[in-house]
Amino acid sequence: MDGKVAIVTGGGSGIGQAVALRFAANGAAVRIADINLKQAEAIARQITDAGGQGTAHSCDVTDQRQVREVFKGLFARERIEILVNNAGISHVGTVESTTEEDFDRLFRVNVKGIYNGMQACIGHMKASGGGVILNMASIAGSAALADRFAYSMSKGAVIAMTYSVAKDYVQHNIRCNCISPARVHTPFVDDYLRKNYPGREKEMYEKLAKSQPIGRMIRWMAAFLICAAKSWICG
Ligand SMILES: NC(=O)c1ccc[n+]([C@@H]2O[C@H](COP(=O)([O-])OP(=O)(O)OC[C@H]3O[C@@H](n4cnc5c(N)ncnc54)[C@H](O)[C@@H]3O)[C@@H](O)[C@H]2O)c1
Repeated sequence: MDGKVAIVTGGGSGIGQAVALRFAANGAAVRIADINLKQAEAIARQITDAGGQGTAHSCDVTDQRQVREVFKGLFARERIEILVNNAGISHVGTVESTTEEDFDRLFRVNVKGIYNGMQACIGHMKASGGGVILNMASIAGSAALADRFAYSMSKGAVIAMTYSVAKDYVQHNIRCNCISPARVHTPFVDDYLRKNYPGREKEMYEKLAKSQPIGRMIRWMAAFLICAAKSWICG
């Protein structure tokens, strides 16, 4: 990834953080766009302290104007070849217990946030000879997970948007892929355990961890899908 520049949304925590650190270690300059600027700055500092290139940018992915402005500022300085649309939120509930407000919130962050990122980036990628987009989906988008109605809806949409963009832009040398992680131990999971199993966090965490031991593979998977040598993987 030497010489390449990557935007990672939600790179201040969890999977996005691991991807940002991995990409930086592989030689990429990483632009961390996160609603939590403090966290993004801490990761950018970690990258620069290790001799890499990282910067932090305050960005709410639900706000199309803001996403465009932040990305435009970056395009003015450098060619962005990699976009990792990772920012996302969780929700627990069935179709009956999911409120309209929760449904809309999940849609705004997990669906519209990904659309906003791709829409802001694709013109620049087209004009600069191509690029790679990686969207963070979830197994919830394709397999039934209990109590995840709105979340599954949002991740199903991420998978469908990935196919659509992969098809429409392959002739512009833009590859679009997604990763569907199972459970990965991040603050996202800790929040979920705190809210849903107060007092039983440790016991429930161990249960979850036993069911899906693949967490460490995601950052490698992300780097693999970005590599030029893997340029035949699209959609
Ligand atoms: N952890 C898992 O088990 C798991 C499994 C499958 C998929 N995923 C997906 O991976 C992605 C990252 O999850 P994680 O576990 O690392 O979560 P996390 O909560 O640790 O990190 C999410 C990051 O996104 C940022 N963010 C949230 N809303 C934002 C917004 N509106 N604009 C910009 N940034 C925003 C947060 O500030 C945070 O830094 C999500 O899309 C999630 O759905 C996670």
